[in-house]
Amino acid sequence: MAMCGIIGYVGWRRSAQVLMEGLERLEYRGYDSAGLAWFEGDRVQRVRAVGNLASLRTALHDKRRLSSAALAERRLAGNPTGGATATLERQLGIGHTRWATHGAVTERNAHPHVDARGRVWIVLNGIIENHLELRARLARRGIACDSETDAEVVAQMLGLMYTGDLAQTVAETMHLFQGQYALVAMASEEPDLLVAVRQGAPLTIGIGQGEQFIASSIAAFLPHTREVAVPQDGEIAVLRADEVVLLDAAGEAHPPSVTSAGWDPERIEKDGYETFMLKEIHEQGAAVRATVQSAMAQIQDAARTVLSTQRIAALERVIVVACGTSYHAGLAGKLALERWARVPVEVDVASEFRYRDPILNQNTLVVAITQSGETADTLAAMRLARAHGAPVLVITNAPGSQATRDADGVLFTQAGIEMGVAATKTFVAQVAMLYMVALQVATVRRRLPSEMVGWLAEELQSLGDRIDELIATVDEPVATLARDLAGSQFFLYLGRLTGLPVALEGALKLKEISYVPTDAYAAGEMKHGPIALLSPQTPVICVATEVNVLPKLLANMAEVKARHAQVLAVAAEGFTEVNEYADHVVYVPRTDPLLEVLLAIVPLQLFAYHLARARSLSVDQPRNLAKTVTVE
Ligand code: AGP
Repeated sequence: MAMCGIIGYVGWRRSAQVLMEGLERLEYRGYDSAGLAWFEGDRVQRVRAVGNLASLRTALHDKRRLSSAALAERRLAGNPTGGATATLERQLGIGHTRWATHGAVTERNAHPHVDARGRVWIVLNGIIENHLELRARLARRGIACDSETDAEVVAQMLGLMYTGDLAQTVAETMHLFQGQYALVAMASEEPDLLVAVRQGAPLTIGIGQGEQFIASSIAAFLPHTREVAVPQDGEIAVLRADEVVLLDAAGEAHPPSVTSAGWDPERIEKDGYETFMLKEIHEQGAAVRATVQSAMAQIQDAARTVLSTQRIAALERVIVVACGTSYHAGLAGKLALERWARVPVEVDVASEFRYRDPILNQNTLVVAITQSGETADTLAAMRLARAHGAPVLVITNAPGSQATRDADGVLFTQAGIEMGVAATKTFVAQVAMLYMVALQVATVRRRLPSEMVGWLAEELQSLGDRIDELIATVDEPVATLARDLAGSQFFLYLGRLTGLPVALEGALKLKEISYVPTDAYAAGEMKHGPIALLSPQTPVICVATEVNVLPKLLANMAEVKARHAQVLAVAAEGFTEVNEYADHVVYVPRTDPLLEVLLAIVPLQLFAYHLARARSLSVDQPRNLAKTVTVE
């Protein structure tokens, strides 16, 4: 698994600065080293650094100091321009944040990489699966790599094949590279262009006025342009300051098809919040409102394809595939589809599904959930489903993403860009969209009285406002509790039915950003093993949102108390019995238990957030994690 960010720029601004700022906006994807290469006059300069972007800035600063000293020396020697004036206006470069896969986290392994003759420079995101074979091939030609990375192998191979025409070289060489990747290249001898190609990894072009951008995510260049184009897999993108051209497999050139990105630049700033994650937790009400509001029109659209009346009537089974938080949203979706629409639902993590030889047919609807739309395992699961004749509906937050191209139908959550690595607002938006789908299926299959559908739809519409109110009331007490418990070594989360996805997601949030070990269980399972973990030092967080199983959950809480463990609970308003067993209770508004998932998760996100902050951790970019996991 790996996640890097790549960026390229050609235009009139100071390229090193544009690249640096772009990398800062890609930081959320996760990285452990970073680098830049750019033209300064006729020469290509490179800086690389291990650690965060502050280290890269320092390296850039030092490099600049050295090159101004060199320029001054050349002036003293009677060459006032230092030989650079003729090309001063050239602004071109590439940048990279690296999340190590092949080779340790060292400066030498950081990108950009260059071939042995110093002609071709590249940054690469993804994995080249046959890099060992290519490395051996290079060795036979007497070319030794300087780093342990698969990316350098690509740079060396391109350098070896370089004809003086970078676009042609990339076109003729890329068949050698097996795997899923995206790369941006530049050549010392062609200082006016960037060449890029993607093969299953994200890459988006930003079209500006006399300048062009290319990056793994729109976020990298959104303050400069919202006009974007996405090359197809295998298409070669050639970017010059005044023009972008795409070359198809036959070498035919055509202009890119440009669309306008809907995300506002200011929305990706922090708006006064101390972190993106906190801002995004506060945006959850809006995310649910916007998603619910847009859902009906989108579902009507999908009624022409995957959600047609005939298909819904013929449905035998739904299989939800997803990873991580999106998988937890899928668990809530399953309960809704089964309760409201009486359709059998399986939920599987995409990385298991893709290898388990699943039983599929045209009456199985596969619902893929992925906020990024680029998660490799989820994309592979979707491909597998389609290959077996099952229609695929994707729920995603990312317009233009690979998943939108690979699905038979698409529903967009309206959460806006999420910068924090830990998913929050995209989770609630996914759950809201799944509920809207479940209501539609229930309506078409006549499994719920229309008054009930109406009531649930109204409740869903008002949920956004209730989330806003809930955050305002619980933030402070939850923060105090989190600070008090910041020294705990382990947390156990328990829930039943609709409380279970909440417990699982709450536990994932805490471990992701605070690095405190957590486990989450269906509460009834506790006595079958996890009870052994309990001691007076173990806080146990119970989610009590289902009236049917409330007495059962209370019994589980009593078992926890009997082991002198501390009980914290999130309960639906009115469940006052919970007070008897819990040391602390956070109440959330009472509605349908399925809808309470969207409320009960909020205090647990805030708890994880404040606990991580109390431990002085960087919540927006937790260690080892990446926002978008585009390789397996
Ligand atoms: C969420 O906090 C995680 N960082 C992670 O589990 C994430 O949900 C998972 O990688 C799936 O991502 P996707 O929704 O973009 O497919």
